[in-house]
Formats: sequence, structure tokens, C-alpha cells
Amino acid sequence: VTPTRAEALRLDAEDPFREKRALFALPEGVIYLDGNSLGPPTKAALARLETCAEMEWGEGLIRSWDEAGWIDLPRRCGAKIAPLIGAEPDEVLVCDSVSVNLFKLAAALLADAPGAALVVAEDEFPTDMYIFEGLSRFAGRPLLRPSEGGGAPQGRIEIRSCVHYRSAAIADMKAAEAAAREAGDAVIWDLSHAAGAIAIDVKRAGARFAVGCGYKFLNGGPGAPAFLYVAGDCAGRLAQPISGWMGHAAPFDFAPTYRPAGGVARFAAGTPAILSLAALDAALDVYADVDMAAAERKARALGDLFLARTESLSLPSATPPGVRRGAQVGLRFARGCEVMRALAARGIIGDFRPPDLMRFGFSPLCLSYAEVFDAAGALCDVLATEEWRDPRFAAPRLAR
Ligand SMILES: Cc1ncc(COP(=O)(O)O)c(C=O)c1O
Repeated sequence: VTPTRAEALRLDAEDPFREKRALFALPEGVIYLDGNSLGPPTKAALARLETCAEMEWGEGLIRSWDEAGWIDLPRRCGAKIAPLIGAEPDEVLVCDSVSVNLFKLAAALLADAPGAALVVAEDEFPTDMYIFEGLSRFAGRPLLRPSEGGGAPQGRIEIRSCVHYRSAAIADMKAAEAAAREAGDAVIWDLSHAAGAIAIDVKRAGARFAVGCGYKFLNGGPGAPAFLYVAGDCAGRLAQPISGWMGHAAPFDFAPTYRPAGGVARFAAGTPAILSLAALDAALDVYADVDMAAAERKARALGDLFLARTESLSLPSATPPGVRRGAQVGLRFARGCEVMRALAARGIIGDFRPPDLMRFGFSPLCLSYAEVFDAAGALCDVLATEEWRDPRFAAPRLAR
């Protein structure tokens, strides 16, 4: 059944998150379907950036490390992300990028398992593959594909996405963890497209290690620091390779030798990026009262509405049939790049991933059903009229 706009408006009226939209600073006339790549700013994050720069830095100067609580920001942000992924507040640290956190965590696991190999699938997000490739060379350990058995007498350390960046398929974390434990393997979960988008429960799944982005659904801002989760009972035996002073048990003792901090705090390396952390810290407050199961349901419903309204286009979906889908929909069209540019000219922002994937993200807290209905209608129109053939939209590729 083709959905109607009246139904979309009725769903908006019943939306438990309808008040959240006003907390975001989105430009008029834009329908933003790219929060899965770069989340939009919250008004609180923009205000916090100003306060942090002008008051805390400008007036407080170096005193703000203590007086404004800068030194605690990596742990404070981690504690705010923890309930979104089902972790304890002291098991999550915000620092560095996903790439760097993955390197630190995988290298620490390798050091703990002298005979282990690294494992990554060919279709994982490129940085995950590249980091494993580089670490494999650096550490002199084999790099395997998931389908390859054996090759390592003492376990496998695998990186896996919880929500896949192209297909949006949600992995069965619990089953993967059960298999890994039985085999003596370790899985590092990339939660970049999952945190803030779907309900994750690392404890119930038995997940021990994860990394994830701060600038996608968590809305921390461009290049916001990433997060790292290590289950409390695992952190103590892990030695991370970037043994910088911020991960020291007592950084301000200026001791001559390194002694790691307890728990996940040892994964800090250098001085944290305070302006970015301040923005993320404020942005995370929109999630303070959010039931992630309800957020996942809404994201899924927005995606379903988009798919129902564009069904007549018969474009192949990137999500395999019958698979649980995250907060994004991908449709394949050979000239998708031009189509996305034509939509952007109408104020509808999604993105394109070569060779043919048009991606539409559905941030559950800042999008309405009516917007998604209208965006899907615009996609139908751009294709029916072949507006995308206009030379204005012919370009090699979109930015992010
Ligand atoms: C699955 C996944 N992992 C990692 C990253 C980025 O990692 P980094 O923080 O190192 O830029 C992205 C960015 O789009 C991603 O989609």
C-alpha cells in the first residue's frame, strides 16, 4: 500500500521523539538524510563550543583543565555513551579516531595472544581493513579473511561492523560472540553506524571490545573523537602500544617510567582535543532520556516509509531481504551520483558511495515522517523527470 502524507503527519503527531527536533540547529528548507555520515549540530553543542572557547579557554586559560573539568571530558563523554551501548560508565573512553583506537585495541590483543592472527572481511569499512593490513605487516602476523579457517594456532582477532556501512545489515553480535568464545577468538565490534541509531547491549551479547564514531549518530561534530569500549574484566591484562602520558596511572607525577592506568583509561594516549570533546559532551545530552529500542523502531519505520514510497522505482535495495536493518537505506542506481546531486539542489541531502549506492540515513531524533515522505517523493520525481541528466549535476563524485 502506498503511504499517504496524512499518515506521515499522523505518525509525527504520535512520535515519542517529536520534541527532539527543536534541539537541533538544522537550516530551513533542508531535509537532512546524512546524519549517518555527519550528524547535525545540536543547539546545545554550538552554545557549548562558544562557551568553551570564549570563557573556558579565553578567560579560564590553563585553570580550566581543573576548574572547567576538561581533564575529565574523555571519561565523562564515555560514561554518556555507555548506556547507549549497554556498557558500564567506566568501560567506555572517548579519545582519538576509530582508526587509531582500532590499532591500539587490536595491537593490545595481539600482544596478549602471541600466536593469534588478524581477521577482516573484504567488505568491511576501508579504514578497518587498512588498519588490520598495516598492523599485520607491522606485527608480522597473518591477515585472514573470515572464510579462511586455521592459519593461527592461538586464536583470531576479528574486526566486524555491528551495522554495515553499505547494506545497513545488523550483525548477530550474540551469536558471533558465542562462536568466538568457543574458539578462543576475540571480536572487536565497529559500532560506528550503530551507536545512537539502534539498541545495542554489549553485555547481553557478551561483547568485550568495541570502537565507534563520535560524529555520526552521536552528533559530536566534524572529526569528533571516537570511543572505545573494553569490558571491565579484560582491560587489566591489555597493554596498548601508544603508551602516552594520558594513559598513565598518574600523568601528573611525571614519573620516569610508564605505568598504565586501570581499566579502559589506559587506552588514552596524548592530550585530548577539548573543543571537540566539549561539543560531543553537549551533543550527547539529547540522548540522556532516550530509550534506544524506541529510537531503533522509529529509524526502522522511517526507512520502511521511504522504501514503501519509492517501491514503484524498482531500484534494488542494498539490504539483503529478511535481514534486520539499521538506520539507513541504500538504493542502487548506476547514475546515483547525479541523482544525489539533483536531490541536494532541492535541499535533500543524502550521500553516494561508488559504484552505484545512494544512501539515505534516518537519524531517529531529528527527522520527521513527513520529511522522509517528501524526500522519497522528490527521489521519485527526480527519476521520473530525469532531472538528474541536467549537466549541472554531472560531477565525478559527492564529498562525504
Ligand atoms: C564503519 C566505520 N568505521 C570507521 C569510520 C571512520 O573512522 P575514523 O574515526 O578513523 O575516521 C567510519 C567513517 O565513516 C565508518 O563508517
